[in-house]
Amino acid sequence: MKNIAIVSALMIASAPTVWASVLSTDAERQRMDAFISDLMERMTLDEKIGQLNLLPSEDIVTGNAIKSNIGAAVAAGSAGGTFNIKGASKIRELQRIAVEKSRLGIPLLIGMDVIHGYETIFPIPLGLSCTWDLPGIEESARIAASEMSAGGICWTFSPMVDICRDPRWGRMAEGSGEDPWLGSRIAEAMVRGYQGENFTRPDNVMACVKHFALYGASEAGRDYNTVDMSRGRMYNVYFPPYRAAVEAGAGSVMSSFNLVDGVPATENRWLLDDVLRRQWNFDGFVVTDYGSIGQVAVHGLEDLPEASVRALKAGTDMDMCSFGFIGTLKSSLEKGEVSMVDIDRAVRRILEAKWKLGLFENPYKYNDVAREATDIYTEANRAAARRLAAESMVLLRNEGNLLPLAKKGTVALIGPLANSAANMPGTWSVAADRSKYKSLLQGFQDALRGKAKVVWAKGSNIYEDPALEAAVGVFGHDMRDPRSEKELLDEALRVAADADVIVAALGEAAESSGESASKTDLSLPATQRRLLEALLATGKPVVMLNFAGRPTVLEWESRNVPAILNVWFPGSEGADAVADVVFGDVNPSGRLTASMPWSVGQIPVYYSYFNTGNPKNEADPSFQKFKSNFIDAPNQPLYPFGYGLSYTDFSYGDVALSGDTLGDGGKVTASVKVTNTGSRAGTETVQFYIRDLRGSVARPVKELRHFERVSLQPGESRTVEYRISPDDLMFYDYDLRHVAEPGDFEVMAGPDSQRTSSAKFTLRK
Ligand code: BGC
Repeated sequence: MKNIAIVSALMIASAPTVWASVLSTDAERQRMDAFISDLMERMTLDEKIGQLNLLPSEDIVTGNAIKSNIGAAVAAGSAGGTFNIKGASKIRELQRIAVEKSRLGIPLLIGMDVIHGYETIFPIPLGLSCTWDLPGIEESARIAASEMSAGGICWTFSPMVDICRDPRWGRMAEGSGEDPWLGSRIAEAMVRGYQGENFTRPDNVMACVKHFALYGASEAGRDYNTVDMSRGRMYNVYFPPYRAAVEAGAGSVMSSFNLVDGVPATENRWLLDDVLRRQWNFDGFVVTDYGSIGQVAVHGLEDLPEASVRALKAGTDMDMCSFGFIGTLKSSLEKGEVSMVDIDRAVRRILEAKWKLGLFENPYKYNDVAREATDIYTEANRAAARRLAAESMVLLRNEGNLLPLAKKGTVALIGPLANSAANMPGTWSVAADRSKYKSLLQGFQDALRGKAKVVWAKGSNIYEDPALEAAVGVFGHDMRDPRSEKELLDEALRVAADADVIVAALGEAAESSGESASKTDLSLPATQRRLLEALLATGKPVVMLNFAGRPTVLEWESRNVPAILNVWFPGSEGADAVADVVFGDVNPSGRLTASMPWSVGQIPVYYSYFNTGNPKNEADPSFQKFKSNFIDAPNQPLYPFGYGLSYTDFSYGDVALSGDTLGDGGKVTASVKVTNTGSRAGTETVQFYIRDLRGSVARPVKELRHFERVSLQPGESRTVEYRISPDDLMFYDYDLRHVAEPGDFEVMAGPDSQRTSSAKFTLRK
């Protein structure tokens, strides 16, 4: 075993105090503490427990909120907050009930799942992550904060930072892909975007990091399923983005539905207390996921009263919709199963959040009905969403430079996603106003007006089987075309007959991904494949747009379709953004943040794997007996992490090092020269990976540690540098110490995780 050069003991709380930037002076903290202590002295037990209760949303009739269940509970002091209600005046009314009708006038926390935008919808988070544009991602969260706060919301259930390496899981759409390092940078950017410097501004909102923890590792990708993993993998792969978000100052954390070591996260003391609070210094509050205290019994553990006790004692502060705290804690206190200290601790944390948000000073701070009329879905916000949507698209193939298409002749837009505005925003678009968004067809018509003709046909349904299609229908939007497959296909071929080029808008529907949308088949549904085959058989050039909420399997398509653009679900401005890329106003620059599998059977497939003791020689594609490989499939994904093409070409020199020794006074900078060898300007994402060649425990074959997005004119070169820090070599060892171990390392640079050149250096003691 190597000597340990650098150790940051796990148990030493090293993180900056979460609220350092909010409560900038001790005097402010003292003022808050005194205010809350005084308030708590005046609260009855029922009022205290009421603060721990997060009520489900309800259709509130404006002017009549007091008659709703929420209104009644708020007036009685039995609610700390509610969520997913849209409309500043409705929310203002609820707040007025809290302030004027409840005995102590404690304002409400108003939350919402603003996952990738409020009304201005950005690409689904997985798509957004493929921009690798950290300032742009931060800006998207800033805009979301500005819009939601104008709508009366002060708390967003985002960022969702669950690492996922299994695209069968529909919720992969909501996260940033497979990589802990990139996921951490994105998590920080989002927290900064939502919360800003502090909460003095009325357009900064509180973030809620979710789902703590490991939710993205549910077995078989089946939602809510069992999670069971080693501590090493938790600390090295799954925990980092949660921790990064906490250290960036996130004010709240949502626990996850799954088991961790056989205990539901919502009552897992090790997770919520040891890891989150003691190791990471988190001092915000913890809310459960929807109904998860109630689910404890269904997991086969305690009933609601005992589960509520265990959840509270483990560190849960707010109960989302289980009614366990409000319904049972009082009698558990009487029986001596919880103490007043346990209850007070949670109450204080909720009240602190309200204080930090400025709600005691001005309960209507987030209820500016005038702002709601002017600050939502603005031209500027939409322009940012359009730009980021275009940046999120990943060009997977472009044989013969078929793309971009010229704005001339006749373009046939064919497919079930061609004229479906309702599908454009993608999953978890709670505040979307779909009546305002364009379908792809409208986007194409606007882009080509006066220059080229657009003809269109649906071509097929998403699925041939109506039951499957019903399962993925956007809430309240029936997509089904009652015509037979043949009728739809015949119409498409008729429409395409006079076209110069066919653009096929295919793939998943918006709700094919997201919560409770797990799939075992990630290939194009058979009816769409038959449509695609028929379109290809016309002999016309065919461009495939792949709508997807997860990495899908495009093995056949990649052998048969000349150009494939992965457009994810691009958001409210997606129609214009797709047109921008297809017709060349924007040169695509998206890079995958999750491997796209060759087949479902390869899953989990990710770039940062361990070598095994019998690695396959990857230079030889054939099956190798007694090596770690499949008889019937390659080991490598179809498209690797970091991959994406451009309308121009980039060439890379070999990675060079400034020295070969790091530590003990030595410094190493890796550099690589990148040249735009094509004929148009483009943006390249230059990626640097590290490999620890020998560890005290097995280390991955490579790990992303740095990247830079560079924009280059045709013929222009840039040398991109990465100054390697000993921190970049750290990992959690067998004893969960955070260490960088002296020895030999490799640094790799390239355009994606597979096409890299490498050089070696040594870390000295
Ligand atoms: C989801 C959370 C979400 C919550 C509130 C749950 O079903 O898992 O991600 O924030 O509902 O809507």
